[in-house]
Amino acid sequence: MKIRIRTLAIIVLLAGMLGVVFVYGGLYNVAATEQHTEPMYRLLDYAMQRSVKRRTASMEVPDLKQQQRLRNGLVLYRRNCVQCHGAPGVSPDAFGMGMLPVPANLVATGREWEPAAMFWVVKHGIRMSGMPAWQYRMSDEEIWDVVAFVKQLTTLSPGEYAALSRQTPDASGQPAVPAAPSAAVPDISLGNAQAGARALQQHLCVTCHLIPGITGASRHVGPPLNGIATRTYIAGILPNTPGNLIHWIRNPTSVDPLSAMPNLGVSEQDARDMAAYLYTLKDIE
Ligand code: HEC
Ligand code: HEC
Repeated sequence: MKIRIRTLAIIVLLAGMLGVVFVYGGLYNVAATEQHTEPMYRLLDYAMQRSVKRRTASMEVPDLKQQQRLRNGLVLYRRNCVQCHGAPGVSPDAFGMGMLPVPANLVATGREWEPAAMFWVVKHGIRMSGMPAWQYRMSDEEIWDVVAFVKQLTTLSPGEYAALSRQTPDASGQPAVPAAPSAAVPDISLGNAQAGARALQQHLCVTCHLIPGITGASRHVGPPLNGIATRTYIAGILPNTPGNLIHWIRNPTSVDPLSAMPNLGVSEQDARDMAAYLYTLKDIE
C-alpha cells in the first residue's frame, strides 16, 4: 500500500515537472500558422457544441421571418460579421483569414445550427477562438435580427446577396458604438458590481489599466485603478462622486479633450455597473 502511494506521488510529481518544462520551456507553439492537430480540433469543436447546447436548451426563439428583421440583420451583418466570416461572393478581410481557428463560413452554419445556439454564440462569443462577444455592442433584438439574416444567408446566391445589399443601404454615418452623452450627470445610483466586472472586461479597460480582480494584460497606459474608491479626484480633475465616475467612464474626452482615454461607447447601465465594481476597490496595494 505504502509503495503504491509512493509510486503514485512520484508519477504526479513527474507529470507536474513535465508540465513545468513544457510551459516554461516554451515548447507549446502558439503560432496561428500551425494548425491544431485533427483530434485536438475535433475535441475543441465538440466541446464548444456541447457547451452551447447545454446553455440554450430552454431558450425561446422569436419570429425570425419578419422582413424588417431581415433587413436590419443584413445591415448589422455587413457592419460586424462579414469582415471575418465573408458572405456569398464576398471574401473575409485579410485579418479574418489569418485567424486560427479560421472563422467558419456561415452559410453552412446557418443551415445546420439551431437559431438559439447561434444567438447564444453571437451574444457570448467563443473563448480562445477570436469570435467576439456582441452582448455589449448589440441589443438582444439586434442579435436576433442577425441570426434571422444568417438563417436566410443559406438561400442566397452571390448575385442575390449583392442585389439585396444594394437595396438595403447601410445607415452610414451611424457609428457602430453609440455616441457618448455630452451632458454631465449630477448623481446617479450605482449598478451591480458583478455585472460591472464583466462589463470592464468587455470594454478594453484592462488593456490600459491594472484593475484588481479583472484578468487581462494589465498594461499601464493609464493609472492603475486599485484604491480608486478612496481617491479624492478622478483623473485629477473631477471630485470623486458616483455621478462623476459614471460620467468619466462614458465620456472622458468631454472632461479632458486631451485625455489618452477614448470614449468607448459604454452604455449608462454598463457604466453604473462598472462604477459599482470600481468602488469596491479600496486597497491601494
Ligand atoms: C474578428 C473575427 C470575427 C467576427 C467579427 C465575427 N466572428 Fe463569428 N467566429 C469567429 C471565429 C474565429 C469563430 C470560431 C471558429 C468557428 O467555429 O467558426 C467564430 C464562430 C462563429 C459561429 C459558430 C460557427 C461554427 O460553425 O462553428 C457563429 C454562428 C458566428 N461566429 C457568428 C458570427 C456573427 C453573426 C458575427 C457578426 C455579428 C460574427 N460571428 C463576427 C470570428 C469572428
Ligand atoms: C487607451 C487606454 C485607455 C482605455 C482603453 C481606458 N482608459 Fe481609463 N484612463 C486612461 C488614461 C491615460 C487615464 C488618465 C487620465 C487622463 O487621461 O486624464 C485614464 C483614467 C481613468 C480613470 C481615472 C483614474 C484616476 O486615477 O483618477 C478611470 C476611473 C478610468 N480611466 C476608468 C476606465 C474604464 C472603466 C475603462 C473601460 C471602460 C477605461 N478606463 C479604459 C486610458 C485608458
